Amino acid sequence: MDDPRAELLIRYGGGFTTEPVVRARGSWLETASGSRVLDFTAGQICATVGHNHPRVMAAIERSLESVIHLNSWMLSPPVLDLAEALLATVPPPLERAMFLSTGGESVEVAVRMAKLSTGRFEVASLTRSWHGLTGGAAALTLAAGRRGYGPTLPGSFALPAPYAYRCPVRACDGECDCTCLEAGFDLFDQASVGSPAAVVAEPVLSAGGVIIPPPGYFARLVDLCAERGMLVIFDECQTGLGRLGTMYGFQRYGVVPDFLVLSKTLGGGVPIGAVVTSAAIEERCHELGFIHVTSHVSDPLPAAAALAVLELVSGEDLPARAERAGARLARHLGELAGRHEAIGEVRGMGLLLGVELIEDRDSRRPAEALGVALSEECERRGLSINLVRGGTGGAANCLRIAPPLTVSDDEIDLAAEIIDTSLAAVATPTRS
Ligand SMILES: Cc1ncc(COP(=O)(O)O)c(C=O)c1O
Repeated sequence: MDDPRAELLIRYGGGFTTEPVVRARGSWLETASGSRVLDFTAGQICATVGHNHPRVMAAIERSLESVIHLNSWMLSPPVLDLAEALLATVPPPLERAMFLSTGGESVEVAVRMAKLSTGRFEVASLTRSWHGLTGGAAALTLAAGRRGYGPTLPGSFALPAPYAYRCPVRACDGECDCTCLEAGFDLFDQASVGSPAAVVAEPVLSAGGVIIPPPGYFARLVDLCAERGMLVIFDECQTGLGRLGTMYGFQRYGVVPDFLVLSKTLGGGVPIGAVVTSAAIEERCHELGFIHVTSHVSDPLPAAAALAVLELVSGEDLPARAERAGARLARHLGELAGRHEAIGEVRGMGLLLGVELIEDRDSRRPAEALGVALSEECERRGLSINLVRGGTGGAANCLRIAPPLTVSDDEIDLAAEIIDTSLAAVATPTRS
């Protein structure tokens, strides 16, 4: 970062990018020196409808005129409107919602309600998953951030991720046959002390390398959970609100979870999280004295912003737009994979795509240094993309590409061109 005052800040994830950002609109950022950057991370996967969408800005302005924040027991029209609009987008038995501030906090609430309502405490999550860094969510986050912080919560279990390119149980290659899921539940059964409460999963494991579970995976997971009396929590902080080409990721798998967790994409840049569950679970928790009061639960301003995002996603059919735009981007990336030896695999769903970088196609060794060089080169050429952990041992060798759902065809073509020229500049050899 070229402003020396950056040294006043605690570094929470390595370093910072080169220049402060002074303005954001749609898919574009503008830096202090006037450079324009195409934002293919949608901020932190939150700018669902593009940065500073006029309808989101207008909703925030209305809140500034009416009410920003309230006592946690008071309700306001934006919260009631949002509950009604959100619940109209999900199938039964999902009939109750709660609005919080962040993804991690919302995962905590779903897990707390699952524990309270089942009277049990064992919770499993997938390796390579990211559910947040607050205590309970951190215990279930396996993609990163584990070492050095002491013990995690007792009763936390790992199920191997369905990662067909690097099968964790060495059963398949290229197409997951769900052996990992059966093996994972075998391990869980043996390690369990008899208190199975829930499984938490992302429909696409984003931070862990953009891993796409195969079509029957979640139907089988739901059955395995039902056999054990475990509730199913879908963490859709990244995938909810259209990113995968359907309103929610669970719809792509033909299942309905007991809990749906939303955040990031819901607020369009404003911090808000949501937990959605059935009336039966909500009633059981209420009878048992469920308490989760926070400073910003049911706050009007973030609810107003989320309502604007939801209306735009539904009204402009952004899930369909994500499907079409994602297919265009995937075509470009597939074409690049045909020419660049360093691209081991391109995978994705809708507008959440991953490009796994390898040293060579025989060894598939993760090309971590290349990943860093490539993302830096892209940034120099005006494209922001994330690097996530697709490799063995947590190697960060996978580009994650997730632009706003409003991205234009021209912006997609430009991004693909920048990735192509950047790869050519930092990697050898290139296939002809
Ligand atoms: C799938 C998923 N769940 C939960 C979280 C945690 O959200 P937050 O950072 O808002 O706590 C994240 C954040 O990256 C995420 O990707």
